[in-house]
Amino acid sequence: MIFKFLLTVSLLLILFIPACTDQGNPLTPAAPAATEVKFSSDISPLLASKGCVGCHGSNGGLNVGTVASLLTGGNHGPAIVAGKADSSNLVLKLKGTPFGSRMPQGGPYLTAAEIKLFEDWINAGAKNN
Ligand code: HEC
Repeated sequence: MIFKFLLTVSLLLILFIPACTDQGNPLTPAAPAATEVKFSSDISPLLASKGCVGCHGSNGGLNVGTVASLLTGGNHGPAIVAGKADSSNLVLKLKGTPFGSRMPQGGPYLTAAEIKLFEDWINAGAKNN
């Protein structure tokens, strides 16, 4: 009797242990939440290091110093449209020449990854964060 019991237990172990451990991971870990792009620590430093601030400071026309002044924009209207990177002059001019020159004027132009930071920030609402 006890032998039969042990046999059953060991058979169950043989059958179930592999079944339990060999299922892969059905819950593939979610990609880490994308970190929020911030005006203060991402966008503003980029505008400074890429020379935008030098040509678009407080000397009239477009001022890239603050979110508010970007929303006001320049001769062609708002430089950014909150939630709509594709309609934002700033993004269009980083990528090409919707009017005038590609920015920063004279280059070197931003990398796709750098431009994506602007797009993500604008599409997330262009917050003053
Ligand atoms: C060497 C000077 C210079 C630099 C550097 C520069 N710009 Fe400009 N930018 C201009 C001039 C001049 C114009 C107006 C002529 C034109 O649209 O090409 C302009 C126009 C713009 C406009 C359109 C404003 C409007 O409504 O007419 C945007 C947006 C802009 N720049 C963004 C940027 C950004 C973002 C950077 C940095 C990545 C940058 N610029 C760097 C000189 C510069």
